[in-house]
Amino acid sequence: MTEAELYTFYKGIFLPVYFHTSQSLKYFEKFSFQPDDIIIASYPKSGTTWMQEIVPLIVSGGDPASVETLPNWDRVPWLEENRIGILNIHKRPSPRMFTTHIQYNMIPPSFFEVKPRVINVMRNPKDVFTSYFYYSEMSSNWVSPGSQFLHKFLDGKVAYGSWFDHVKSWLNAEDKEHIMYISYEEMIMDLKDTVARIAQFLQKFLDAEVIEKIADRCLFKNMKKNNMSNYKSVPREQLDQTKSEFLRKGIVGDWKNQLTVEEAEYFDAVYKDKMKDVQYKFVWE
Ligand code: A3P
Repeated sequence: MTEAELYTFYKGIFLPVYFHTSQSLKYFEKFSFQPDDIIIASYPKSGTTWMQEIVPLIVSGGDPASVETLPNWDRVPWLEENRIGILNIHKRPSPRMFTTHIQYNMIPPSFFEVKPRVINVMRNPKDVFTSYFYYSEMSSNWVSPGSQFLHKFLDGKVAYGSWFDHVKSWLNAEDKEHIMYISYEEMIMDLKDTVARIAQFLQKFLDAEVIEKIADRCLFKNMKKNNMSNYKSVPREQLDQTKSEFLRKGIVGDWKNQLTVEEAEYFDAVYKDKMKDVQYKFVWE
């Protein structure tokens, strides 16, 4: 199926219509934040689901009840998706937790008044591209990766738009004090330290033992077993995990198995050009 059939064009960005109706996008635009809300902001395939496991466990002080009973999309719902309208989120105890794949400059006005805490997850775009490729093959709601996929990805002609625009928009946020920037690579390198840093950012003071337990639970091999986070409950017509699994490899550098030397060089050249004004030092550089 094509972009015209599967996507809506929202403020210059493709969004899968299956998840984003005009009603849900209107709801998003009028969304009212609360000061203690916690937002996970990421470009798809950057470690969103991983963060949707870590943050609720930190907030609950290590109690696994919510990650064992609620699927990740209801546990930390996407602000811009249609499901949010049926979740009675105004009745949720604080801190409420949300996810967004939307760029900073398109976030609803209330965000800039209230300044809720944000955890912004980023990942090496070559690994994002690789993960995105496999996900696009298995999801019936995303356009399958054809021969032009690399160009489409680098031009932002894919679901959720350009990786470059997304990452730069959040890095250029005006008020960074309420935003924590973290990378997938740092999480892979030292998960315990990541959990401790996020807990500190959220002002949740947890014992070392609890931090260790949360990190252990969120290891790829353990999280893969959680049916509330591995997307196994999604029907095969929507997400065909016989092609590839949602929790697929969970490693750094899989792009080396995906891109030819020429493609990787082309990717790097585009990256260098598009990121030339960015001061932020990424772990993967
Ligand atoms: P791969 O396809 O490279 O394996 P998102 O949730 O933003 O869509 O990102 C999905 C990517 O995060 C997938 O990458 C998935 O395997 C990886 N991921 C999810 N949970 C993980 C974990 N606990 N440890 C490492 N990687 C994880």
